Amino acid sequence: MEILEVNTGTVKYPIYINDSFDELKNAFEKAKLSGKKAFIIDDTNTHGLYYDKVKNAVGDIFASLGVYTFEAGEKSKNLDTIRNFYEGFLKDKLDRRSVIIALGGGVVGDMAGFAAATFMRGIKFVQIPTTLLSQVDSSVGGKVGVDFMGNKNMIGAFYQPEFVYINSKTLDTLNEREFSSGMGEVIKYGYIIDSDYLEMIEENKEKIKALEKEAIHKVIYGACKAKAYVVSKDEKESGLREILNFGHTFGHAVEALSGYELSHGGCVALGMISGVYLSAERGMIDKEEEQRLKNINEFFGLENSVKGFDVNEVYEQMKFDKKNKDGKINVILLEKTGKAYTEKNAEESEIKAALERICL
Ligand SMILES: NC(=O)c1ccc[n+]([C@@H]2O[C@H](COP(=O)([O-])OP(=O)(O)OC[C@H]3O[C@@H](n4cnc5c(N)ncnc54)[C@H](O)[C@@H]3O)[C@@H](O)[C@H]2O)c1
Ligand SMILES: [Zn+2]
Repeated sequence: MEILEVNTGTVKYPIYINDSFDELKNAFEKAKLSGKKAFIIDDTNTHGLYYDKVKNAVGDIFASLGVYTFEAGEKSKNLDTIRNFYEGFLKDKLDRRSVIIALGGGVVGDMAGFAAATFMRGIKFVQIPTTLLSQVDSSVGGKVGVDFMGNKNMIGAFYQPEFVYINSKTLDTLNEREFSSGMGEVIKYGYIIDSDYLEMIEENKEKIKALEKEAIHKVIYGACKAKAYVVSKDEKESGLREILNFGHTFGHAVEALSGYELSHGGCVALGMISGVYLSAERGMIDKEEEQRLKNINEFFGLENSVKGFDVNEVYEQMKFDKKNKDGKINVILLEKTGKAYTEKNAEESEIKAALERICL
């Protein structure tokens, strides 16, 4: 088992990366959570797959163990579902020393975390992320929340867990689309902070796809380390954290215009092509980098272009990005492979040329 210590500046907590739930009980004991009342939040997929396994792994260390299972999917990510959680917490008589356990992907983690942050002004919370995206992205960094009136993650908080426990074996049951989507974020870390990590992905791509333990642990560990580094430098998102949006300003626009039919990581992968292209046009990185990225994307089942999207429409959609300031579209570009920055002065013509690379 690998352990990564996250230090946000205000709190410290461990991320455990294992290939079973065998150490989960120890993790709770170490966090001094045994003997407390615990409550699992999962969804209709993760409940059937992993609830019993987690329950068996923790044994009888808790004073009580409740559960609330909601309908899987982003459409459940709202305040009505949170209200159901609170009712479950009250029924189980949770108190300020109780612990909420998120068992599932990013939707479960964001919602369970939000409920933990707000119930009785904050009770303890543990993440057991089960999708690649949640293992390498959403479970690290402390952003929790729900969607509201069609706006993604509109209501939320910054709230850190006691620990994150990743069982990489849970990826065995994940479908290809969800795995590819997570890989979009994984590749991103290579481009924005660590070119060695990108090379490691290229060298181990077959093993990663086959979910071989050593390779997949390197992927997860490196991604969590990269995100934890950025977050520790900028816990509340005032500057550096923006680089995590590499590929996102372009990608989000396509994702939104698809009515969220296209996967998030898939759109990030597309957006990275635009970002890499624009960085190369400005002479900061080699032109060959675009083909390199396309090869990696393709290997992991990520599309390198989309049909039926109008560049002007995508450009207009990009103006809605909540990261924009003063009416200008901010894009994340690469100073070199492995180092990103926020570009506040990209011309409309440049952005449109970058979109031409992906909107065929
Ligand atoms: N907090 C953050 O910093 C942050 C960062 C990125 C994304 N997010 C949020 O994360 C969410 C997306 O996360 P996601 O992609 O994990 O979505 P998700 O939680 O909806 O999971 C995707 C699907 O996979 C299923 N699933 C989960 N684990 C499984 C497993 N091991 N085997 C089989 N099926 C499994 C789920 O039931 C769901 O149907 C979005 O709501 C997004 O806003 C948050
Ligand atoms: Zn993302």
